[in-house]
Amino acid sequence: MPEPTEPGGSPFPTPTELKDWPEADRRHPARSDRHYLALGSLADSLRHEIDRKLAGRSGLRVLDIGCGNKPYLPFFAGLATSYLGVDAVDGPRVDAIGVAEDLPCEDSSFDVVLCTQVLEHVDDPTRVLAEIYRVLAPGGVLFLSTHGVFLYHPDPPTSDRDYWRWTHAGLMRIVRQSGDYSGLSLEPQGNVVACLGYITAQFVDELGQKLPGNLIRKVMLRAVNEISSWLDARFPLGARVPAGGSLSANYLVTAEKNSA
Ligand SMILES: C[S@@+](CC[C@H](N)C(=O)[O-])C[C@H]1O[C@@H](n2cnc3c(N)ncnc32)[C@H](O)[C@@H]1O
Repeated sequence: MPEPTEPGGSPFPTPTELKDWPEADRRHPARSDRHYLALGSLADSLRHEIDRKLAGRSGLRVLDIGCGNKPYLPFFAGLATSYLGVDAVDGPRVDAIGVAEDLPCEDSSFDVVLCTQVLEHVDDPTRVLAEIYRVLAPGGVLFLSTHGVFLYHPDPPTSDRDYWRWTHAGLMRIVRQSGDYSGLSLEPQGNVVACLGYITAQFVDELGQKLPGNLIRKVMLRAVNEISSWLDARFPLGARVPAGGSLSANYLVTAEKNSA
């Protein structure tokens, strides 16, 4: 593993290195994937928000907190010149081992902070958000995603490390309270039906794994995912985030740190 941690991190991978970048199933989950309803929509929202917030920018220094295999790194091609992945657990794509509550990074040293599907697993979300604010440069952009409603899923699986869930309002509140941000926005990854469908898909997948072969499992998952997506786009229109009665499995928050 490379030595941690020069401010700014490792040089951004070359186009050749990007070709077979791992975890394509997180960026483009198949319609028969148990995570399709949340992660397909998260990838779409993330691409859209990156285009919206970073258009025309280049030379960016990106910090990926709780990076795992850095599944979304390819979204920053053409925008970033360096990319640092920090994770509490070592791995082939981790540049620096460290906890999000105490980042091994200098103040104001990143133009972008990405933190996807990590906040529910940390000891202290408020402390993590304070650290994110500290390491973001003025004008820097935060992309943060985490669960609204989902099954208990500790990471690592043998631990108890799945501690938190949010409503859209609660998540916006802790981000807003963590620093001086502007342009704060939140995208739900689907609404009530997609959320119920996403949870149903987990059980259908478990059931399908007990059946012979893979085909029946994939057909069942695809049916749950497609029917849920279709219904979610149409029903119930009155109960969509942020309305009362709404529900979502996941949220992406985008915010820009104000210049001093
Ligand atoms: C569900 S995985 C998400 C990985 C990746 N961000 C993604 O979206 O696929 C959660 C990651 O957060 C890391 N993690 C959990 N708690 C952490 C902490 N307090 N500080 C840093 N990393 C943490 C885990 O080791 C794991 O790699």
